[in-house]
Amino acid sequence: MADYIYTLETRLTPEQMRGVTLVQDIARSAELNIYLTGGAVRDILTGFPIRDLDFTVQGNPLKLQKDLERAGAVIHGVDEPTHTLYLNLPGNVRAEISMARTEVHEKTGKPPVVAPATIIEDLRRRDFTVNAMALSLNEGSRGLLQDPFNGMADLEAKLLRIIHNYAFLEDPSRLIRATRFATRFGWPLEERTLARFEAAKEAKYIEHVSHKALGYEAEQLAYEDDPLHVIKVLEKEGWLSVLHPHWSSAKVDTVNLSAMMKVRQQMTELGYWTDPSPAVLHFLTSKLNEKDRHEIEKAIPRKGLVEGWRELERASKDLAKRLTGKEASTPSRTWTLLSSARTEAILFLAVTSKQQTVSGKIRNFLTKWREVQKRVPLVEMTELLITPAMPQYPKIANDVFLLLLDGRLRSQTEIMKYLKPLAPPPPPPPPPPRRGRAPKVVPGAVAPAAVVVAPVGKKGKKGAVVVAAPVPAALPVPVASKVAPAKDAAGKKAVPAKPVVVEKPVAKIVAKPAVKPAVAPKKPEKAKTKPVVKTKAKPASKPKPKAALKPKSKPAAKKKK
Ligand code: CTP
Repeated sequence: MADYIYTLETRLTPEQMRGVTLVQDIARSAELNIYLTGGAVRDILTGFPIRDLDFTVQGNPLKLQKDLERAGAVIHGVDEPTHTLYLNLPGNVRAEISMARTEVHEKTGKPPVVAPATIIEDLRRRDFTVNAMALSLNEGSRGLLQDPFNGMADLEAKLLRIIHNYAFLEDPSRLIRATRFATRFGWPLEERTLARFEAAKEAKYIEHVSHKALGYEAEQLAYEDDPLHVIKVLEKEGWLSVLHPHWSSAKVDTVNLSAMMKVRQQMTELGYWTDPSPAVLHFLTSKLNEKDRHEIEKAIPRKGLVEGWRELERASKDLAKRLTGKEASTPSRTWTLLSSARTEAILFLAVTSKQQTVSGKIRNFLTKWREVQKRVPLVEMTELLITPAMPQYPKIANDVFLLLLDGRLRSQTEIMKYLKPLAPPPPPPPPPPRRGRAPKVVPGAVAPAAVVVAPVGKKGKKGAVVVAAPVPAALPVPVASKVAPAKDAAGKKAVPAKPVVVEKPVAKIVAKPAVKPAVAPKKPEKAKTKPVVKTKAKPASKPKPKAALKPKSKPAAKKKK
């Protein structure tokens, strides 16, 4: 069995990784064995984005509910028969924790008979080989992959293969899933799977699909990266009308859906995390009537998603109202308002608002005002010692940005005039160089007193070493946003490394002082240093005759050769 800890840790986002650790620890303290399963494992191993985390617990995960909530998770739904929790972990990580189980399908379309089981038995009840792998999160076996159906080989071959011949018969919603996965990944159905798929279609197994499974599949559409494409293929296969009889691609607001996905991409690039799933559902069902939409809502198991969907219009209207009011009377006020607004509402409003003031402000927030951010004079601020080391730094940087945004600071002179009084006092000057004997110096050591901040923008002094000062990893950036743009947060573009001049080690400074001594060093002193150098090359003790230094074994070594 292979160990996938490294893959796990490198492929998950930091929030997802924290989510894994949190759930794993809670399950451990409840003495339950826990595994990462399903799509999460498939996506970790393939390199596709990991959309959500599926956990499987040997035991009842419903008893973890309280501990999870205490740790900041939000439970969005519970499925009692399968003992499944639908939740969001801190950091908005979508997750599902279910009980390892067997499912016996006595009649097509009827709910299966569920019984607790081991992880291997649980993997056997699943749909496709690539979805039937489990990664252990348990002490002693963490990172080990359970792959009883060689899903790994199918991942490499990019094939969707059902686990057994009755997969579509047992659960006809897998026909919809097969189409959805094939469309998303661009992977074909393996030959036997395709034959079973066609046969199931022909025999109209889909008519036996359970209402619950349809709700689950409707929900999954909200998480697709290209929902329009998926919906069109589902329609072609005849599955969309199965999800709801009045649903078709003609009922989708394609224009706004595409525009929204573009804005979402733009927000992601700026470092704003936003959950587009409520808006996706809104646009996918835009042209359905209220009753039909309500029926889809009711079928979706994750109630938090439904609430978000229902809330979307109200939250956006509220934000639009604030954007046209006093609270957003200047660019800086608008910036501050949008920086703390729900990103889902910004996303939705960006494409739906009919008010030019509102859409214009959102557009400026996402584009034009980013340029103003670049005008915050970080280099000059460093010159003035206004650096991230100062506790007031984020506020100063943000204030400068907001003043620039409102046009209250325009020229360089104005900016510097504003900044100068905020600069901290300069550090005390370095102590004068010591006269007399050079102190003992460890080669390569740097005298701390010799560290001075060089005027940025100027070249390092001759004979001085220019090094980058340590920049804190999470450097505050000059934005009011709660969610700082990733680029800026990384500090690469927004905050240049502050060059610092470190003078050469004290030993060399003493040997060649920058300030000429008033009195020339006395000859005997000079002479004193010479023997020190000489003693290094020639030991004080009488050297042995050359012959005596020759290794005794040399002739023997020669013989060996
Ligand atoms: N599953 C199944 N049959 C179904 C639904 C789910 O066998 N009708 C199993 C699969 O093993 C699947 C896992 O439950 O991987 C989790 O289901 P889901 O989250 O719907 O699918 P994912 O594979 O995680 O896919 P996605 O990337 O769409 O989240």
